Amino acid sequence: MSESKQTRLLFVDDDHNVLNGLRRMLYAMKGQWKMEFVHKASDALKVMETTPYDVVVSDLRMPDMDGIQFLETVREAYPDTIRFMLSGYMDKALQTQAAQCVHQFISKPCDAEQLKVLVTRALALYDRLRSGNVTKILSRIESLPVMPDVYQEVIDMFHRPSCSLRQIGQAIAKDVGMSSKILQVVNTAFYGQETKIIDPVHAVSYLGQKAAEALIITSGVFGMLSNKKIKQFSVMGLQEHCIRVGTLAREICKIHDLDEQEQETATMAGILHDAGKMVLILHFADELVEAIARSKQGTQPMHVIEHDMLGVTHGELGGCLLDLWGLPNSIIEAVTYHHQPSHCVNQEFSVISAVHIADAIDREYCCEVGWGYPEMLDMEYLNQLGIADKIQTWRRLHLPDLEEEPAHARA
Ligand SMILES: [Fe+2]
Ligand SMILES: [Fe+2]
Repeated sequence: MSESKQTRLLFVDDDHNVLNGLRRMLYAMKGQWKMEFVHKASDALKVMETTPYDVVVSDLRMPDMDGIQFLETVREAYPDTIRFMLSGYMDKALQTQAAQCVHQFISKPCDAEQLKVLVTRALALYDRLRSGNVTKILSRIESLPVMPDVYQEVIDMFHRPSCSLRQIGQAIAKDVGMSSKILQVVNTAFYGQETKIIDPVHAVSYLGQKAAEALIITSGVFGMLSNKKIKQFSVMGLQEHCIRVGTLAREICKIHDLDEQEQETATMAGILHDAGKMVLILHFADELVEAIARSKQGTQPMHVIEHDMLGVTHGELGGCLLDLWGLPNSIIEAVTYHHQPSHCVNQEFSVISAVHIADAIDREYCCEVGWGYPEMLDMEYLNQLGIADKIQTWRRLHLPDLEEEPAHARA
């Protein structure tokens, strides 16, 4: 591999022993990776002025500038650089605070293999999101949707360790538009609620942090679509579908023994998985209407037709949007690959699998306006993971009274 094709990584840590350890541990990668090691964030920023880096890996606690400040600066100045945080000390509050500037957290100590896998996965994901086709489509859009201020303020509260869910609920309650949207969606999309939720504070504590945050994000953007009505497409139906997918993806992770953090990630990724459809509604409404018609007439799901027509899928567009909004890798990955989980470098059961399964199962039973031919489960992928025999279990998680398979799945 020529030097220009090598992946460039920059490691920043004030602890000489840590940097020496990383240097030794990653010695075998020097054919593929061009690595630089610096002790200060300010030195790292100087180096970056003259050399572009694909990935930066930063410590959290450093004397001159801490890791969060450093990665925030990198995010602003070099948005295409992938940002990892490697830290021995990372409590939930700090993680929440750093979430918007960090693509991927890694806890110390980590081994070479683990780091190699995470870097390879992240590079593959961002290569896809910055491919020629995606860039071409994005260049036809003046700008991707920006979160309305009032929503952004509430989202920022989720990242402030001093804010409780109760305070966040109270802030939502102050905005009539935001609270009515949240309550409408919570009450229509969730199963098993005996009484209607009428208080945003209750809604937020009922949903939990990640689900509530994802719901605010989607409500903010879905709100922008209110004057973009497409009669062939139900925005409310899509929003309800997204929440059901978030709920089911979490349940699927639980029965497959993924930990609590991954379950939360699955909820958030599920709620956000079709965010790319908002980009289609806002900027490619004519193409969307044509894709719906073509999908309904034939047996091709929407993402295949979108790829035919635009060269990208709503999965990739959603991935780009969420990258712009500073969401972590794990969410962007699940959103980007939700219809094509086999395209991901990671081929173990993960949040990506859970979101793919939850989406396909919800689509089997719930057909709203504007969805064309159902998106199907990728059976080859499920067979490879050795979990294809669990389909009925997952369907029952979604619809406990289920007696029959959906008609098209029996065929
Ligand atoms: Fe989708
Ligand atoms: Fe979907």
